[in-house]
Amino acid sequence: MKLLALSGSLRRLSHNTTAVKALKILAPDHVEVTIGSISELPLFNPDREGENIPALATLKLALEAADGLVISSPEYAHGISGPLKNALDWLVSGSEFPEIPIMLINTSPRARHAQDALREVVTTMSGRVIEKASVSIPLLGTELDAQGVVEHPEMSTVIRHGLNEFYLAIAPKL
Ligand SMILES: Cc1cc2nc3c(=O)[nH]c(=O)nc-3n(C[C@H](O)[C@H](O)[C@H](O)COP(=O)(O)O)c2cc1C
Repeated sequence: MKLLALSGSLRRLSHNTTAVKALKILAPDHVEVTIGSISELPLFNPDREGENIPALATLKLALEAADGLVISSPEYAHGISGPLKNALDWLVSGSEFPEIPIMLINTSPRARHAQDALREVVTTMSGRVIEKASVSIPLLGTELDAQGVVEHPEMSTVIRHGLNEFYLAIAPKL
């Protein structure tokens, strides 16, 4: 099973980027995780949809090759992060996103608004959020890096469990 994982934060020491890096390390041998990049995408403009935009082409190819999408994104002012919403807007009119199974990771359990908004957006885009696979880990306020998350007994167990549920939801359809 191939997964594409996206962090909605461009911050150098982002907890959400840490989470997707930990997910990649924790993934079992039969699950290959590719961490995608949204940082080079231009601001979404429907007038540019026919243009050759290398960062968009790379993202679309990675999504096309993936059996599932993992999104870990922060909440900013009760909303979805701008970089993530920008990336999703670029994907609205393509054929890659509809029906893709989605695992959501929330690194700040107090942040509910952005998670709810994200669910609404990806569902509107015909993505399939797998609720059993979607997890919350209290990374905010810690200084853990990816290896630290991997070595954290509770957080690594939660991510492993989410990955297993994601696998169980996707595998029968492969
Ligand atoms: C501009 C800004 C607005 C924020 N607004 C919220 C908010 O509304 N609710 C919340 O729970 N956290 C909020 N936060 C905290 C971030 O969600 C938190 O720091 C998160 O870890 C950032 O993600 P990152 O570590 O992946 O960069 C905000 C942070 C910033 C910088």
